[in-house]
Amino acid sequence: MIFVKLTKDEQRMLDGKDGQAAQKSMEILCALGEIYGADRLIDVASVQVAGVSYHNLGDAGLEFLRDLAKDGKARVVATLNPAGMDLENWKQLGISEEFARKQREVIDAFTAMGIIPSCSCTPYLAGNLPAKGEHVAWSESSAVCFANSVLGARTNREGGPSALAAALTGKTPNYGMHLDENRRAQVTIKVKAKLKTNADFGALGWCIGQKIKNKIPLIIGVKQASVDQLKSFSASIATYGGTAMFHMKGITPDKTPKPAEEITLTAEDIASAFKALNEEQTDVDFVALGCPHASIKEIRRIAELLEGKKVTAELWVATARQTKLLADQMGYSKTIEAAGGKFACDTCMAVAPLKGRFKVMASDSAKGCYYGRGSNDFKTRFGSLEDCIKAAVTGKWKQ
Ligand code: F3S
Repeated sequence: MIFVKLTKDEQRMLDGKDGQAAQKSMEILCALGEIYGADRLIDVASVQVAGVSYHNLGDAGLEFLRDLAKDGKARVVATLNPAGMDLENWKQLGISEEFARKQREVIDAFTAMGIIPSCSCTPYLAGNLPAKGEHVAWSESSAVCFANSVLGARTNREGGPSALAAALTGKTPNYGMHLDENRRAQVTIKVKAKLKTNADFGALGWCIGQKIKNKIPLIIGVKQASVDQLKSFSASIATYGGTAMFHMKGITPDKTPKPAEEITLTAEDIASAFKALNEEQTDVDFVALGCPHASIKEIRRIAELLEGKKVTAELWVATARQTKLLADQMGYSKTIEAAGGKFACDTCMAVAPLKGRFKVMASDSAKGCYYGRGSNDFKTRFGSLEDCIKAAVTGKWKQ
């Protein structure tokens, strides 16, 4: 018995008249709608699909995708989250032939369904940019938080299968972050600290996330924030708290009443985040930049800092392939590679099979530290981009 009200077209898909992939997808969306009490399905303007790394999917996941790819076709623009390897330079990053073959098959199945293999967690920097108020179905927690908060688009935090189902039908159930009443702030956060670097914003996300978990905050006191800083903050607050949205007074577009519950954060709180994310390790053998995927502005800065230098630690710059092409055109890639740095396009250090390869990872990303520890058992060092480049060159964390 289905309680979600369906249009004729939606019913047609559910009845299997548009093929088995659309039917399976409608079953997933209707089941979700039932669980969350959605009254209907709504059209989505775009989709971001996660669950791309063969490392996480395994053979069962690959089979599921192959099955859908028999007759499934994306009905809206849909982009992919990072895969488990750089699709071109996987050998250079130490990926095995077997893994590469399976990962390629995963990408082929998605591409056969008309899903763009952008393989990036920053779809908004790679052509999938929704406008304020547009409904989308995105997975990847940092991108979801960025979309709801910074762009003012509307998306739940989709899982891989529900996002794929949205791509294959152009629909999503109308609940959660799609509704006005669920987008209001629940707690006010007063920031009394100066934030300069992207890492400072990551540290702020750590502080707020730890304190309010998945509540929606209204953040007051941040005067200015760049896209890169908001990207870092979105990733961190979503990782350490789980919220799908924040409001930042004077910076984000949605309006919200000011909640009575108030928390003040000071420079000491920011310092405590740096302390928590830094372990007492001096030697650094891996430096991971680009979490979320590096923008062209960040790559330009990395190239500036590496000009004429040589790295002694393994340095990865994770980014979308499209951004890397711009970096190639501008000569930034040449400078970074001449210094011994490597690009990790299409992938990131959280989904690539890295366990056991390094001991101590330095990053300017609070989220990166979470996955460096959790997925790969690395010790972590956390600081600004400048600190990380110094560590890449010297092999030592600043004393
Ligand atoms: Fe993106 Fe991977 Fe970080 S998916 S947000 S680079 S952990």
